[in-house]
Amino acid sequence: MKPSLKVSVICGLLLSSGAVYAQAPLPANMAQLIAQGKYLATAGDCDGCHTIASGQVYGGGRAFDTPFGTLYSTNISSDKQYGIGNYTYQQFVDAVRNGVAPIGNLYPAMPYASYHRISDHDMQALYAYFMHTKPATQPNRENGIGFPFNIRMGLKLWNLVGFDKATFKPTADKSPLWNRGKYLVQGLGHCGECHTPRNFMMATEQDHALEGAVVNYLNAPNITAKNLTQEKWTFHDLAQFLKTGQSPKGTAFDDMYVVEKHSLTQLNDHDITAITSYLLDQAQPQSSSKSQSKLTPLAVSPLDTKLPGYRIYMDKCSGCHGLSGQGLPNVAPALKNNATIEDSNIFNTVAVLTNGISQQGYNQQQSYYTMPGYKNSLNDQQMADLITYLHHSFSTQITTTTAKQVAAIKKQLSNN
Ligand code: HEC
Ligand code: HEC
Ligand code: HEC
Repeated sequence: MKPSLKVSVICGLLLSSGAVYAQAPLPANMAQLIAQGKYLATAGDCDGCHTIASGQVYGGGRAFDTPFGTLYSTNISSDKQYGIGNYTYQQFVDAVRNGVAPIGNLYPAMPYASYHRISDHDMQALYAYFMHTKPATQPNRENGIGFPFNIRMGLKLWNLVGFDKATFKPTADKSPLWNRGKYLVQGLGHCGECHTPRNFMMATEQDHALEGAVVNYLNAPNITAKNLTQEKWTFHDLAQFLKTGQSPKGTAFDDMYVVEKHSLTQLNDHDITAITSYLLDQAQPQSSSKSQSKLTPLAVSPLDTKLPGYRIYMDKCSGCHGLSGQGLPNVAPALKNNATIEDSNIFNTVAVLTNGISQQGYNQQQSYYTMPGYKNSLNDQQMADLITYLHHSFSTQITTTTAKQVAAIKKQLSNN
């Protein structure tokens, strides 16, 4: 762990773009701890949930829909009246790692079950940083959660059955790099909050960690090493996807785009490599320049042009995604070898075709068009034919999709 910690400190310092608020000069070791805490807050995406576009940084107010009503994130800036500026270190630990704040037990929308794995050292750095953020004078919003769920005491019960209080345990026979990845994925990165299925008590099923779950109209796909390997993710392509939100295997969209924008794209290369190593369960390759596109050139079989979906593809999709699914620079990503198409679970393909993808600004050189939705212009049978064509031509999936399968997913999308 030692070397990687050093890397994050340095990177934290380099990344200090948003100034840290301090009244008096700080001792050097304190300044370093704060810089480290700032980087860790990025890795934990605290900002993504505790800041809204129209509000002050860390001022809270982001709405979360729960089965019981709407919940709002709180002001966690250093403001002593509206924020957490009066928190002692112990209160901060109790809130972030145990979900017990001075206001009572926290709803698990705050991912404390994952954060329970954060190390003591990292908690100290986070505390140092959060006591020095710019105070936000934004009052907390009342939660719209009705009786009996507004009783925070009830969450005590959830904590008994739904919160396994797992601490981080490095795996002895794995490298420090792999274990750094495990620490980030399971702890601060809280990837399992979306990618791990939940049981009827809404607790994540650790026996099925990262095997995929539907959250907010999309499937957070199965990202176990087994599935990623089946989908032919290479080390290079996965690291590129995590670092930039796009790769020869497709782009990050919707919720995953938010994770990329606020958190992953701002992590240092060492941490990206660590996460990739853990997810693929592979050591970093010596020469990491090989990309998926060079590995499996897929020839379009002339038979595929006889599939009914071929015409639909040519008519509706090829203008942006290319005649042979190769993608067009600054227009749309390649669909050939695309992980969403390669996934045997067609949920996201149907979701994207139904609802489209709104414009996403990457701060890289790359920008894309908006992907339109086809809710009203493709019926279930046409969508099924199209997916069958996409699978045959652009992936290794050779199954036939039926109108019934499409209809079932569309129903789930409109019920959600
Ligand atoms: C996925 C969304 C999400 C992320 C990520 C997140 N939080 Fe929260 N947090 C919430 C919500 C929602 C609440 C309010 C819960 C409630 O009212 O029961 C909350 C509450 C809190 C509280 C209690 C505040 C109070 O008013 O007493 C603290 C402290 C806190 N979060 C700190 C953090 C820190 C530090 C991070 C990053 C390491 C973080 N949060 C990341 C959603 C999130
Ligand atoms: C106007 C251009 C445009 C058209 C037409 C279009 N798309 Fe897209 N599509 C995009 C863009 C841009 C993205 C990536 C959006 C992002 O991530 O920001 C995308 C993403 C996708 C994805 C998700 C994969 C990924 O990695 O992002 C699938 C699947 C997809 N398109 C299929 C289709 C199909 C099938 C059609 C024809 C019915 C189609 N698209 C028509 C622009 C288009
Ligand atoms: C807020 C929910 C959420 C969180 C948190 C989240 N993801 Fe995702 N992730 C998604 C969704 C939804 C998709 C599908 C859309 C896409 O492909 O971009 C996705 C897609 C992915 C993919 C592409 C998989 C494929 O085969 O297409 C990878 C890899 C991934 N996530 C890794 C991660 C990692 C690593 C973390 C933690 C650092 C993480 N995700 C955290 C929701 C989430």
